[in-house]
Amino acid sequence: MEYAVSFECVSKLFLGSREVMAVDNVSFDVEYGSIVGLLGANGAGKTTLIRMMTTLLSPSSGQIRVAGYDASKDSDIIREHIGYAGQDTERSLYYRLSPRENAKYFGWLRGLHAETAIERLDNLASQVGMDDRLDQHFITLSGGEKQVFVVLRALLHRPEIAFLDEPSKSLDVLTARRIRKVLKEYVREYNATMIITSHNLKELEDTCDKLIFINRGRKVFEGTPQELKQIAMKRESIVVRGGPFDDTVVRELSLVGETILINRGAEIRITVESPYEGIRRVVDILEAHNVRAFVAIAEPSLEDAFAEIAGRSGDA
Ligand SMILES: Nc1ncnc2c1ncn2[C@@H]1O[C@H](COP(=O)(O)OP(=O)(O)OP(=O)(O)O)[C@@H](O)[C@H]1O
Ligand SMILES: [Mg+2]
Repeated sequence: MEYAVSFECVSKLFLGSREVMAVDNVSFDVEYGSIVGLLGANGAGKTTLIRMMTTLLSPSSGQIRVAGYDASKDSDIIREHIGYAGQDTERSLYYRLSPRENAKYFGWLRGLHAETAIERLDNLASQVGMDDRLDQHFITLSGGEKQVFVVLRALLHRPEIAFLDEPSKSLDVLTARRIRKVLKEYVREYNATMIITSHNLKELEDTCDKLIFINRGRKVFEGTPQELKQIAMKRESIVVRGGPFDDTVVRELSLVGETILINRGAEIRITVESPYEGIRRVVDILEAHNVRAFVAIAEPSLEDAFAEIAGRSGDA
């Protein structure tokens, strides 16, 4: 089967004052028409992976194929098939040009007519609610606005595979949601493939068909967002806020599950097997002692999923 991207035993060793194995023997495939999320903490190796996929960086070892071509030989052809928005957005567009002028210029580099590039940019910008920012110098835009235009630029030439390194970086919740919608629609409309990075599970879970979780250069998980969430759920916890609470209350709560005191006991986090049964026991204890507190089931976080995965692979 032909994949949009395929990595076979890829490693990247950075040499220098400090040797870093940024990517360590990673293999995966990305199916055409899918959105794949690369998830991992700062320094995990996401950008290094994406820069190798876009032929900006060559691997120390292993095989990379993109759009059916060998990245070590056919980087020029691969570049015709892809779009890329890097993580360092401040320097990705010309400062003294407006978003429209930038679109014209970068469109021209890709063989687009000026009117086509501008029309496409206008259309995408209106979907994100930024159609009134099209004619001012790029330098005068806010950080989030710059970010949006850098992401949109990557789609102007309608690439068959788009690589976006932290597309929602420094975006407010509403704008981030709009951008995610634009990206999903792009993939659907043009049957494109997209690879997105983030360190935020929440951001990727409703956008991606598949997630690849990277920890210190290694792939520690590959599967659907639901599968990752299920792993995280095993560590679901209950949060009790409004403390510090009496020693007796704390002792009784610690019988419900593994307890951690946060902020000098102002908050208690209890890890449980079954959150619904656990929350009932917690409320009973608080009522019995006539304690008023905020009680909730904590959403499984990336750290929870990670702790579970790392625990399993013996790499905690
Ligand atoms: N050019 C380079 N030279 C030396 N080390 C590098 C280079 N680029 C990246 N690294 C190192 O490789 C590791 C992975 O970096 P990378 O930028 O891929 O992480 P990341 O997952 O994208 O992190 P972030 O979420 O912060 O963007 C880090 O330890 C980093 O210091
Ligand atoms: Mg990065």
